[in-house]
Amino acid sequence: MIPMLFLILELLLSCLAAPLGTYVSEAKNPSFPLTRTNVPHPFGITDKAMKGFEISCGGSNGTSPILRLGSSSYEIEDISLLQGNLSIYAGAIFYRCNQNFSIGSGFINLEGTPYIIANTESSKNMLTIVGCNDAVIISGLSSNYSTSACVSFCDSIDDVINGSCSGWGCCQSSIPKGLKRFMLWLQSPHGLTSMVSNAANIARCGQAFIVKQNKFTFSSEVLQNVAEDNQVSQNLYLMTLDWAIGNTTCKEAKRNMTSYACKKNSHCCNSNNGVGYHCNCRQGYHGNPYTGCEALLFTNGNPKIPVFTLARY
Ligand SMILES: *[C@@H]1O[C@H](CO)[C@@H](O)[C@H](O)[C@H]1NC(C)=O
Ligand SMILES: *[C@@H]1O[C@H](CO)[C@@H](O)[C@H](O)[C@H]1NC(C)=O
Ligand SMILES: *[C@@H]1O[C@H](CO)[C@@H](O)[C@H](O)[C@H]1NC(C)=O
Ligand SMILES: *[C@@H]1O[C@H](CO)[C@@H](O)[C@H](O)[C@H]1NC(C)=O
Ligand SMILES: *[C@@H]1O[C@H](CO)[C@@H](O)[C@H](O)[C@H]1NC(C)=O
Ligand SMILES: *[C@@H]1O[C@H](CO)[C@@H](O)[C@H](O)[C@H]1NC(C)=O
Ligand SMILES: *[C@@H]1O[C@H](CO)[C@@H](O)[C@H](O)[C@H]1NC(C)=O
Repeated sequence: MIPMLFLILELLLSCLAAPLGTYVSEAKNPSFPLTRTNVPHPFGITDKAMKGFEISCGGSNGTSPILRLGSSSYEIEDISLLQGNLSIYAGAIFYRCNQNFSIGSGFINLEGTPYIIANTESSKNMLTIVGCNDAVIISGLSSNYSTSACVSFCDSIDDVINGSCSGWGCCQSSIPKGLKRFMLWLQSPHGLTSMVSNAANIARCGQAFIVKQNKFTFSSEVLQNVAEDNQVSQNLYLMTLDWAIGNTTCKEAKRNMTSYACKKNSHCCNSNNGVGYHCNCRQGYHGNPYTGCEALLFTNGNPKIPVFTLARY
């Protein structure tokens, strides 16, 4: 009875991706910043990586890890094996000056890849507009109809509230669930702009993008720069993608041990965002579950499996 109980507890706890007690499985800790040489498996250079997790090198000095998706390249800021996500820098989805529209690298298509735009509350990805008189609707194409919308007006630049994307010069709303590929509609909210006196005059240009909420700070200066700068597309924003192995559940994946990705001393967690699974080290083990986890060593030099105190839960 007791080993069974232990196993169930372990699965429940470690699939929540919350590091508890001595449970260590984070990729990032000793090797930051991420470079091509410390990219953790299943990521890696071609031939070393699992399919879909190929990373190449680039960036300003050629050593940053780059994720290529279609014709766009994205610098990777961090990869988490524990959470099954990674953060990348992407450009605007679109930018507009007067009636001229351009598409940027933020117009991302993740169909056929192991990635999905993270929409959990804690990932804090936000659909963001900076500009005046822009109404935007974003809608997923691949899963069930799911949408999110945002609208931004302007009156006087003095009305802008620094740090607040609440509809004056800036708007933020959450990302719909299951976004791999999306449509985006932009229109001027005509009927309402006449209610604000100076509506058209501040921001000649506008842009929409996805960014982690705490990685973007809006201010009147940001709005004015968008207004004056045709180069808005060069701005890069940090966003989180969730990733998963394959397109089956853990149960199905275990039927083929050749392709099953969770190695020694690890276990499988079903992805909670879309399809597939990821692997975590078992309690008392650490390292990379995609290559095999090692026992944690304690000061006496002996491997020790931590024991749960049931009272905690
Ligand atoms: C590459 O650039 C980053 C930041 O621009 C810097 O931290 C890092 O030391 C550079 N690496 C090399 C090998 O020059
Ligand atoms: C639109 O862009 C083109 C080429 O970049 C430029 O020549 C034109 O003046 C722009 N039109 C407006 C209305 O900004
Ligand atoms: C992974 O997700 C967690 C929780 O949603 C978030 O706090 C963390 O910043 C994300 N990590 C990366 C590398 O994006
Ligand atoms: C779409 O919604 C239907 C009904 O709610 C559900 O049965 C189906 O699994 C959903 N499909 C996806 C891809 O989420
Ligand atoms: C808002 O921030 C900008 C730039 O950081 C600054 O110039 C401006 O004075 C600030 N406005 C207010 C009302 O604090
Ligand atoms: C799952 O992945 C396999 C191998 O990549 C592919 O052949 C299959 O069509 C995929 N199934 C679905 C439902 O996407
Ligand atoms: C198991 O996976 C391997 C590697 O992907 C593949 O070559 C093999 O055909 C699979 N076996 C079955 C029974 O599907």
